[in-house]
Amino acid sequence: MALALGILLSGRGSNLVAILDAIQEGTLDALVKVVVSNKATAAGLERAKARGIQVVFIDPKLFAQEEHPREAYDVAVGTLLKEHGVECVGLAGYMRIVTPALIRMFPWNMLNIHPSLLPAFPGLNAQKQALEWGAKVSGCSVHFVTEGVDEGPIICQKAVVIHEEDTVETLSARILEQEHQLYPQALQLLAQGRLQVDGRTVGVLP
Ligand code: GRF
Repeated sequence: MALALGILLSGRGSNLVAILDAIQEGTLDALVKVVVSNKATAAGLERAKARGIQVVFIDPKLFAQEEHPREAYDVAVGTLLKEHGVECVGLAGYMRIVTPALIRMFPWNMLNIHPSLLPAFPGLNAQKQALEWGAKVSGCSVHFVTEGVDEGPIICQKAVVIHEEDTVETLSARILEQEHQLYPQALQLLAQGRLQVDGRTVGVLP
């Protein structure tokens, strides 16, 4: 049975489009049940709608008065995802730290893509960090989401060589091309039930 995905995003949504393309091409056995954003203006919402996918904006401001606003927000997101029958959550440019309240609702079924070879350059502006560090190679990583930011066990990575003349824009564009290949591949491994987590190590079953 196809893997029921929910995608969380805050921005342009090119990884979402890559996932939808892979589903359409038959290389990813999944379907996107719903796309949720914390930003009303996220371009990814329009891109999802154009592909006939249901989208929901959940406004963080609505939870500001709660005793634990972040957790309350995440419970609302998780509940909505469950209502849509989502089994697996893909973070795709989701610019919000996910709390354990949400992670707990999808144990070992929440993935993120990050534009560096983790554990190098976690957090924001990973491509800029790599250039400023003088790294000769960077890339992208798909990993399980755990409590620490960009810290979960790594599922797969792709390296990208850094050229002397690279700018943040040129490097980001080359990494993004690889992201669009890597994320659907990682999701397909999960859809096939081939990922086995042992501590920090993720094994891929044949
Ligand atoms: C990507 O670079 C991804 O690795 C990072 O945020 C960016 C999202 O891009 N987490 P897009 O919204 O999928 O185009």
